[in-house]
Amino acid sequence: MGDLFDKFAPLIAEHEALLHSTERHPFAIVMDKVLGPTEAIIKGKQTILVGTYNYMGMTFDQDVIEEGVRAMREYGTGTNGSRMLNGTFADHVDAEDALKEFYGTDHAMVFSTGYQANLGIVSALVGKDEYVVIDLDSHASIYDGCFMGMGMSGANLVRFRHNNVEHLRSRLEKLPKDAGKLVVLEGVYSMLGDIAPLKEMVTIAKDHGALVLVDEAHSMGFFGENGRGVYEEQGLEDMVDFVVGTFSKSVGTVGGFVVSNHPKFEIVRFACRPYIFTASLPPSVVATAACSIRKLMTAQNKRDRLWTNTRRVHQGLREMGYNLATDHAQSAIIAVLLDDQDQAVATWQALLELGVYVNVARPPATPVGMYLLRCSLSAEHTDEQVTTILERFKQAGQKTGALPA
Ligand SMILES: Cc1ncc(COP(=O)(O)O)c(C=O)c1O
Repeated sequence: MGDLFDKFAPLIAEHEALLHSTERHPFAIVMDKVLGPTEAIIKGKQTILVGTYNYMGMTFDQDVIEEGVRAMREYGTGTNGSRMLNGTFADHVDAEDALKEFYGTDHAMVFSTGYQANLGIVSALVGKDEYVVIDLDSHASIYDGCFMGMGMSGANLVRFRHNNVEHLRSRLEKLPKDAGKLVVLEGVYSMLGDIAPLKEMVTIAKDHGALVLVDEAHSMGFFGENGRGVYEEQGLEDMVDFVVGTFSKSVGTVGGFVVSNHPKFEIVRFACRPYIFTASLPPSVVATAACSIRKLMTAQNKRDRLWTNTRRVHQGLREMGYNLATDHAQSAIIAVLLDDQDQAVATWQALLELGVYVNVARPPATPVGMYLLRCSLSAEHTDEQVTTILERFKQAGQKTGALPA
């Protein structure tokens, strides 16, 4: 008789090998104490965090914390229900109002996570005989939204090579002219930290009659004049139909959203299973989100700090001899390419022992065959912390052979 767990044998073997090669499992780290937006205690050691998405450092902002406490006292700890039924409180509506103010849109819809926002909007929009066209390196939540649309209603999935404008064009040219199409792009791609040539891609999508959705999860607050994202920076506000984002990165809490000016957008609330069939966010969470989003509207000093920190780390690592995914700092994510899993995990562990936490990333999260140490910078990293991060990278790389001794 087949054991349902038999298929996990390769995964079990891989994780056992990982445990043998390091004292600490890179995917089982516990923050024993969090000291602020950029530091935590991990296994008794004060550690600089360079692998969180706390880009704007909002998690310990006093105004934001006060709003969360206020909402928890006024409304309790949870909603016990779906947004569709008893789970919409005044603070959920206020978070949607804050998003409309931030993005300058007519509509905003808050989901319980960014994952669910992509799952919900993509699966709700594309149906039978319609097409969803995505970049090969799309985030898992976009893929899962496509799979859900395919399974539920027979939508068709078409993929083009990462950031390849001509491949997108040739894919679209082959689709039936009159069929409904959704092109899904990301402003910043989260594994390599590279940005998309949105201007060319959105123009091509529009020329082929598609609606366009851009996931701006990794750009909120620090791209474009109002911090709306790469699509704003590239002047595409009138061409992009839907923007997806998350509260789990620059906003500093948890939750996801879609904003849009599409006149029929509100109907999505009644057609979107990941919005309907799950409980809404606790009032304290949406209250912190609303406060944080409004503060991000005037956070020019934070944006400047974030770019300064990112450029310093990118330049420092490059000068040391690390192989980086991009030749200049395109976003606040810096991906360091290592030879293989052993070298990536060894360097990760050496950094952790030296008091610096970064992310290990590997297939299937990364493009084929890539083993990365992924750094994400914060506006709240101090100059001294940045200096320490660079020093520790040098020591760790020399220890493991990732850099020449
Ligand atoms: C591009 C992108 N979209 C969506 C998400 C999902 O966001 P959340 O953490 O809110 O589920 C992520 C999270 O890493 C992401 O990188």
